[in-house]
Amino acid sequence: MPLKLFFGALLAFSSALAGARQPAPAGAEAAAVEALLARMTLEEKLGQLTQYRGRGSDTGPRVPEGGEAQIRGGQVGSFLGVYGADYSRQMQQVAVEESRLGIPLLFAHDVIHGFRTTFPVPLAEAASFDLEAVENAARIAAVEATAHGLHWTFAPMVDLARDPRWGRIVEGAGEDPHLGATMAAARVRGFQGADLAAADTMLATAKHFVAYGAAEGGRDYNTVDMSERTLHETYLPPFRAAVEAGVQSIMPAFNEVAGVPMHAHRPLIEDLLRGEWGFDGVLVSDYNAIQELMPHGVAATRADAGILGLEAGVDVDMVSGIYLEDVAAAVRDGRLDEAFVDASVRRVLRAKHRLGLFDDPYRYSDPAREKAVTLTEEHRGAARDLARKSFVLLKNEDDALPLSAGALRTLAVVGPLADDRREMLGNWVAAGRPEDVVTPLAGLREALGSDVRILHARGADIDGDDTSGFAEALEAARRADAVVLFLGESQEMSAEANNRTTLDLPGVQEQLARAVHATGKPVVAVLFGGRPLSVNWLHENVPAIMMAWFPGTEAGHALADVLLGGHAPGGKLPVTFPRNVGQVPIHYNHKNTGRPPDADDKYTAKYLDVHWSPLYPFGHGLGYTSFRYDALRVDAPRIRRGDAVEVEVRVTNTGRRAGEEVVQLYLRDDVASVTRPVKELRGFQRVALQPGESRRVRFRLEPEALAVLDAGMRPVVEPGTFTVFAGGSSADTVETSFEVVTD
Ligand code: GLC
Repeated sequence: MPLKLFFGALLAFSSALAGARQPAPAGAEAAAVEALLARMTLEEKLGQLTQYRGRGSDTGPRVPEGGEAQIRGGQVGSFLGVYGADYSRQMQQVAVEESRLGIPLLFAHDVIHGFRTTFPVPLAEAASFDLEAVENAARIAAVEATAHGLHWTFAPMVDLARDPRWGRIVEGAGEDPHLGATMAAARVRGFQGADLAAADTMLATAKHFVAYGAAEGGRDYNTVDMSERTLHETYLPPFRAAVEAGVQSIMPAFNEVAGVPMHAHRPLIEDLLRGEWGFDGVLVSDYNAIQELMPHGVAATRADAGILGLEAGVDVDMVSGIYLEDVAAAVRDGRLDEAFVDASVRRVLRAKHRLGLFDDPYRYSDPAREKAVTLTEEHRGAARDLARKSFVLLKNEDDALPLSAGALRTLAVVGPLADDRREMLGNWVAAGRPEDVVTPLAGLREALGSDVRILHARGADIDGDDTSGFAEALEAARRADAVVLFLGESQEMSAEANNRTTLDLPGVQEQLARAVHATGKPVVAVLFGGRPLSVNWLHENVPAIMMAWFPGTEAGHALADVLLGGHAPGGKLPVTFPRNVGQVPIHYNHKNTGRPPDADDKYTAKYLDVHWSPLYPFGHGLGYTSFRYDALRVDAPRIRRGDAVEVEVRVTNTGRRAGEEVVQLYLRDDVASVTRPVKELRGFQRVALQPGESRRVRFRLEPEALAVLDAGMRPVVEPGTFTVFAGGSSADTVETSFEVVTD
C-alpha cells in the first residue's frame, strides 16, 4: 500500500473510531439493522443516504425522471415532495418487490402548518400561547399527510428569530427561548404521536440546526457569528426541547456558525447533539447543502464536501447526489472510512424500522383513509379555533372592536387582503388549496347575511405605487357606517429567501389608510403578514388594529367570529414589533447594560430620533375585556439551591365580557456571575374568566429555571435574589422577589 495511502487510512481509521462511535441500536431492531447492513454493497448504502426531489404532474407529484430505475437499483432511500396514497403504494412496490434488498422508501415533505387543512402560519400559532391547540394542529397535519403516503415532515422549524427582516421568522415561534422550546416540543408530539409505528404518525424534523435566525442583516443563508453563550442560552434550547420530546430527525442549517458551516459541524452535531444530548435520530441535510460546502469555501470538490458531511454526521444528502455519486471512490481510496457511511445507514434503517415499514411498507398508502380524513369539518373547526386564538389585538380604543352588527347598515370592506384566497394560506402550504379558503370578505358576508350591506373595494395592490383604486375605496367608505381595512404583506414577502429591509406596509397601503381615515368614517384595521410591521401611523390614528398573520383555510370564518364579537381575539405577541427597522435587533429579554436608557440622561443607551421602546412589546395582546393582576406571591421567600419555587398570582376579569388571558411569568436573576436579561419568560397559562371572576394561577419554577450557564456552559443555580414578574405582557407586570441562599 503506497505510504500516502497508508497514513491516510491510519488517520481515517483513528478518526473513524472516534467519529463513528455509533453503537448499533439495541434489541431486535438492532439485529435486523445489522443483518441488513451486512448484506448491502457500498453503492446500496450510499443509495439509502440519498434523497431526491419529486416533480409535479397533471395527476399529482411523481418521482423525478429516471426515479423508478434509481429505486430498482437501490440508489435512493427517500423522496422529497412525492405523496398520494395510490402513487406512494406504486413506488413502494417498486422498492420492496423490484430492488435487490427490498428496502422500503421514505416519503418526506414540508408539512409546516397543515397538509390540506391549512392552519395559521407557525408564528401565528405561537401567538396563541396554546400548546394543546398547537399540538393538535400538528396532529391533524400528520393525520392528513400520512393518509397521503407521507412518513416524514421537515417540521417544526424551531429557529429563534430576533431579526424581523429575516423572512423565515414566520416559520418559527418568535424571539423567546422558553416559548420556542415549549412550541417545539408540542409540535414534535403532534407529528410523532405516541406510537411512531401507527399509520397516522410521522417523523418530525427539528430545523434548522442551529442559529439560522441570526443571519447577519436578516439576509437568509448569511453568516452567523455569535458567542458560545448566546448560542447555548438563546438558540439551542428549542432544539434541546425537541430532542427531549423525542424528535426523530434534525436538519442542519445552511449557515456557518463562527467559521464552520453547520453541515460540516462535527462538534455541534456529533459531540453536542449526539454525544451530550443523546439524539439517536437522522440528520437530513438541507436542500443541496452538502454541495454548498464548496461555495462556503471549506470543500474544494464534491467528494470533499461529501466526506465533510458524513464525518460531521449528516446522514441524508438532500438532492445534491454527492453521497451517491462522489463518496464511493473516497471510501475505496481511503479518504473516508466506511464506518461513517455505516453509522448513517444504521440511523436511516432504524428510522424505517421505527415507522413499521419493514413490517408493512404499505400502511401509509391507503386511498380510503386518504379520502376519509382530508379537510374534514373537524379539521376545519380546529383551524378556525386556532386562528381566532392567534389573532393579536394590538390596539382597541373606546372598544372600537368588536363591530356592533346591530348598529351597522352598511360596512365597507377595503384593502388588497380582504378577498384573496391564496394570501390567506401563507407560505409553505403543502397541499393547501386556495379554493378551500374562506376569505375575510366571504366570512363577513356569511356572518352578516342580509342584515348589513357590504361594500367591497380592493383600493390598492399589496405592493406597487398604483393609487387608481383609491377612488372606489373612498366612495365605499363614504357610503358606509364603518370601514374595515385588510392590509399587510403578501405571503411571498416572508418565509425562505423572502427578506425585507423595511417593516413598513408595502406599496401605497398606508396612503390608502390615510385617505380612508380622512373620510371621517370609523375605521378599524386588520393586518396580515409573516413578521412584525412598523405601523406607526396606524397606531397613532386608527382606533383598533389586529394582527392576523396568515390565518389559513378558515381565515374568513375566524375573522368574522372575532370582528363581530362572537369570540374575542386570544393572541399575544411572540415577537417584538419595532417602531422601525433601525431598532433591530430589539427584543424584550435584553441585557440591562451599564447605562440603561434614561430620558433624563443623554449618555445612556437610546436613540436621538426614536424612543428606545418597541411599538408593541413581546407578550402584548388585548381582548374584549380587561384583567387585573395582584396578590403575586412565592411560597417561600428564601430557598436553598436545588429547591423549586411555587409562584401564585391572582387574575381578575374586570370587564363586562368573558375572556381568555395568557398569564405570563417572567424571572430575573438580579445579580449573577454573568450578565442576565432584564426579564425571561419562564411560564405561561391561558385562563378563561367570566366577568368579575378571579383565579389564582400557580406556576412551579424548577431549579433549572433559576440556573445560569457557568464559564463551561453548565447550568448552575447561584445564590442571590430573583425578581418574579407576572402579567398579560412582558411590559405590564406585577412583581415580587425571593432569595436563593447557600446550603
Ligand atoms: C428548503 C428549506 C428547508 C426545507 C427544505 C426542503 O431550502 O431550507 O426548510 O425543509 O429545503 O424543502
